[in-house]
Amino acid sequence: MPDSHRKTVTIINNETGQREEFPIIGGTRGPAGVDIRQLYQKMGMFTYDPGFKSTASCSSEITFIDGEKGVLQYRGYPVEQLAEHTCYLEVCYLLLNGELPTETEFGHFHNMITTHSMVNEGLKDFIRGFRYDAHPMAILVGVVGALSSFYHDSLDIHDLRHQEISAHRLIAKMPTIAAAAYKYSLGQPIVYPSNDLCYSENFLTMMFSSPTQRYEVNPLHARVLDLLFLLHADHEQNASTSTVRLAGSSLANPFAAVSAGIGALWGPAHGGANEAVVRMLEEIGDVKRIPEFVARAKDRNDPFRLNGFGHRVYKNYDPRARLVRDAAHDLLEQSKTSDPIFEIALRLEEIALEDDYFVSKKLYPNVDFYSGIIYREIGIPLNMFTVLFAVARTVGWIAQWREMIQDPERVIGRPRQVYKGPEHKDYTPTEERGFHANCQRVCPGRPTAKWSRS
Ligand code: ACO
Repeated sequence: MPDSHRKTVTIINNETGQREEFPIIGGTRGPAGVDIRQLYQKMGMFTYDPGFKSTASCSSEITFIDGEKGVLQYRGYPVEQLAEHTCYLEVCYLLLNGELPTETEFGHFHNMITTHSMVNEGLKDFIRGFRYDAHPMAILVGVVGALSSFYHDSLDIHDLRHQEISAHRLIAKMPTIAAAAYKYSLGQPIVYPSNDLCYSENFLTMMFSSPTQRYEVNPLHARVLDLLFLLHADHEQNASTSTVRLAGSSLANPFAAVSAGIGALWGPAHGGANEAVVRMLEEIGDVKRIPEFVARAKDRNDPFRLNGFGHRVYKNYDPRARLVRDAAHDLLEQSKTSDPIFEIALRLEEIALEDDYFVSKKLYPNVDFYSGIIYREIGIPLNMFTVLFAVARTVGWIAQWREMIQDPERVIGRPRQVYKGPEHKDYTPTEERGFHANCQRVCPGRPTAKWSRS
């Protein structure tokens, strides 16, 4: 067979002349992968790819992104179609099970999520252990990890039924925990979930009602929030999902793995961007000051970046950002309100997308450039923005975790490194480093102890 017909890649070590062939693994869409699992055995070298810029860490059937064209699909369905025709819970079913549900299947799933939204009463004491002013993300990381201590009846990670129960528990309980974290920060009693409300209505009610104040859910708010949940539901191998997979690859339980993912989501380069965007827009304060901030974002000596701009995968408009921007427009129009920071955001986008720096680097608004405008209009406080992202992404994390656990090619995730530290050093005795002979800080007896038998 001529070389050009073989589905392999040949790597040549130009120093030694060694040539080795590696198979190409094709997917259904998107770039193929070179299977370099045998690279170290064959050539005694690792690949070097900090940040996984060219490395596929797994194969997956869940979400597809074409970053050049701005395409996002869940299980093959374009996100725009799902946003138009379905709701978040239907998308949860799709992500978990691979196909849209029939009415019976959806009824069963809906019932399952709705009736598992209450958390164990003991969890309230756990939440009370946090400082009154703790960031709700700090509470979420801790409490979700602690779920494994409450629900250890179904933690056999190899049991398909246990996997499903944990998935349902996480999706059902996450809004309850998130709202409880908020209520705790206000010093108000935690509000119980209601089985007769839909997912987003229930969340809003737990956030904003109190024993003394009835809360009428604004249907428009519930609908827009549901859309935001749907658009954040999964995004293939991003930093938090990869963290969930990596933590889970050690066979840790799903609550511990998802808690690790929440930690990874928190940073402003990832899910924390929604909070950072609004802080940035508030700081800009006036469209007149936009050029000043754009100049700072372009200055290599200034660590400031335009929050909500740029993406590792999208080199085109993030399709979610367009939908969120349109939803923000609709929401403000229908509520007959205006938000000065929305005006600043729209103008900032215009200016940046005409600027050669952003155009040449293909930096476009990402999903979180406009999501904060919606959260603000609904009345969600700033420190809850990333928590809402975590609530929505839980289904993606758990779907990806299940796929990883069930993957026959699964192994523990364990990256290698190119070591650049000292080659070898012999121990320098304390007296040669200026210690007093009778210094009590060094372990007593250590200078005379002999641990090595050789
Ligand atoms: N503002 C100004 N310059 C930027 C921005 C930005 N927001 N984003 C990237 N750049 C520049 C970088 O300085 C770099 O320039 P250089 O090539 O001259 O060094 C170039 O664009 C490429 O950026 P990288 O950081 O190498 O791209 P990477 O893929 O590693 O980072 C990231 C992607 C983290 C999202 C980045 O664009 C960023 O920090 N954006 C702002 C934070 C943000 O919005 N995060 C949310 C992402 S979406 C999500 O997680 C939900």
